[in-house]
Amino acid sequence: MRIFIDTANLKEIKDAADMGLLDGVTTNPSLVAKEGYKDFKDLLIKICEIVDGDISAEVVSTISDGIVKEARDLAKIHKNIVIKVPIIKEGLKAVKILSSEGIKTNVTLCFSPSQALLAAKAGAYLISPFVGRLDDISHDGMNLISQIIQIYDNYGYDTQVLVASVRHPMHVVEAALMGADVCTIPFKVIDQLVKHPLTDIGLQNFLKDWDKLNKS
Ligand code: G3P
Repeated sequence: MRIFIDTANLKEIKDAADMGLLDGVTTNPSLVAKEGYKDFKDLLIKICEIVDGDISAEVVSTISDGIVKEARDLAKIHKNIVIKVPIIKEGLKAVKILSSEGIKTNVTLCFSPSQALLAAKAGAYLISPFVGRLDDISHDGMNLISQIIQIYDNYGYDTQVLVASVRHPMHVVEAALMGADVCTIPFKVIDQLVKHPLTDIGLQNFLKDWDKLNKS
């Protein structure tokens, strides 16, 4: 499973990349706004310098012509830019045009298997189902992932399933067990994935024993 980080924070991206686990980065308008970046293109250039993998940049237009124009512009920044497009009718029209031009898309804000089916038909490179936001309203987010994987397998669609809106380590483990193609993870959850109390206790004891040996 490819691992992306879900953030627009350069320090977090650098930290995760240094651990050797990053295959890409996903951003969205809220994540960029949270970091207070005014120059979106400059931020994307900086991210592309840190990570050699898919870097998702989201459009803000909701009309297909506007989405295509924004996408063409963003795609020029770097070969690794993937255009994040919301799953609305105008978005699907744009995805169809962009995929015919060889511009990769990440169809976002997916909350149902029917939306994922349409995104694949339109030629999406990635589909982003938001599991955490579904869990938040008492729907089983990971069940959506399993349904989408089954639908894509049934018909051999090339669109890759990217598990988004991840809230805790079990989302990541379940995604891997289900065979999701990609999981985009917030920095806090990456930290949680690394940690294990028995690792900490074990390391502490190894170092204590080593210290005793050298002092005896
Ligand atoms: O990048 C999109 C997605 O991962 C958002 O997550 O936590 O805002 O639901 P969240």
